[in-house]
Amino acid sequence: MHMIELNNLTKVFAAGGTEVKAIDGVNLSVPEGAIYGVIGSSGAGKSTLIRCVNLLEKPTSGQVLVDGQDLTLLPEKLLRQARHNIGMIFQHFNLLSSRTVYDNVALPLELAGASKSEIEQSVLPLLELTGLDSKRNSYPAQLSGGQKQRVAIARALASKPKVLLCDEATSALDPQTTRSILALLKDINRQLKITILIITHEMDVVKTICDRVAIMSFGKIIEENEVEQFFLNPRTDLAKEFVRSAIHEKPVAEIEARFQSEPCEGARPVVRITFVGQGVVQPLITRAARQFNTDFNILQADIETVNEKAMGFLMVEIMGEPEGIEQSLQFLQGLHNSPDNTVQVEVIGYVS
Ligand SMILES: Nc1ncnc2c1ncn2[C@@H]1O[C@H](COP(=O)(O)OP(=O)(O)OP(=O)(O)O)[C@@H](O)[C@H]1O
Ligand SMILES: [Mg+2]
Repeated sequence: MHMIELNNLTKVFAAGGTEVKAIDGVNLSVPEGAIYGVIGSSGAGKSTLIRCVNLLEKPTSGQVLVDGQDLTLLPEKLLRQARHNIGMIFQHFNLLSSRTVYDNVALPLELAGASKSEIEQSVLPLLELTGLDSKRNSYPAQLSGGQKQRVAIARALASKPKVLLCDEATSALDPQTTRSILALLKDINRQLKITILIITHEMDVVKTICDRVAIMSFGKIIEENEVEQFFLNPRTDLAKEFVRSAIHEKPVAEIEARFQSEPCEGARPVVRITFVGQGVVQPLITRAARQFNTDFNILQADIETVNEKAMGFLMVEIMGEPEGIEQSLQFLQGLHNSPDNTVQVEVIGYVS
């Protein structure tokens, strides 16, 4: 079942006589229980997209289904009810500075008319979940950025939503605090079974907690996949760029000077090998080297954790007699036909 479904969604802004198509025919399905990431460059339409999911932004056309209900068809009163199912957090926390941590988290419940004891029964466990017990009487100005985001998360959870929307929730935080907030989001997803939609321009966020990812460019979704497959085999140039940035791939200076895109007499292929699982590829390389009498010069090697699985990113130069090189290459390229599709091999150039 899909918790969020966007069908042919468009949003056109008319500003100063010109029209901006911020969302251009987007179809998106977020499975129930998923942590789903949407990445894209600045201005791609990510914030507009996520604001359409709870109708903070009214779509120009298209359907917004949350938990099976088309929000675009609801009258104001029913829309307000439906929004209780959708929590949201932002880059800049949006806390009320005159209220304590406890009272910030209690706010949505107060607005919904809950009694004092009902509020306490909801708020206390949320403060515990988000690690804020000792800060319950503090004011936002007395908190760090990470603590403020925890308050915002607790407040978003107060109405017991089925969906949590996060717009650049970690973009204002340092790397260590980002990791702790992402770990908290993962906990919330698992413990409370809340579907999470995350908008970000940081691939590290996608790499750390997302199950699926979509990439947005100029209002359109140009690529969508399971996260491991996205890292293994990005198809569009933009997706490739995002993946390369996340694995910190950089050209090797010494090789770059001799790098060419076409093979020529005596040139050796440079091969990028991407794989899921540790210890998968090294035995295969050893086998190719022995069997075909070649040498593998490792130019770059990196193991990253992607969606809690180890993924390897290797760049190698294959050296030897032309025939051996060709056979090694064929052997490696045959691998990505493996049934589970966990190895990807690509010749990215030649050196001579
Ligand atoms: N209220 C508005 N009125 C007019 N144009 C808008 C409005 N909101 C957004 N836009 C335009 O829509 C496009 C998408 O903006 P949006 O904020 O969704 O991008 P984004 O992907 O979230 O970017 P960033 O990564 O910088 O946050 C931009 O061209 C922006 O200028
Ligand atoms: Mg934005």
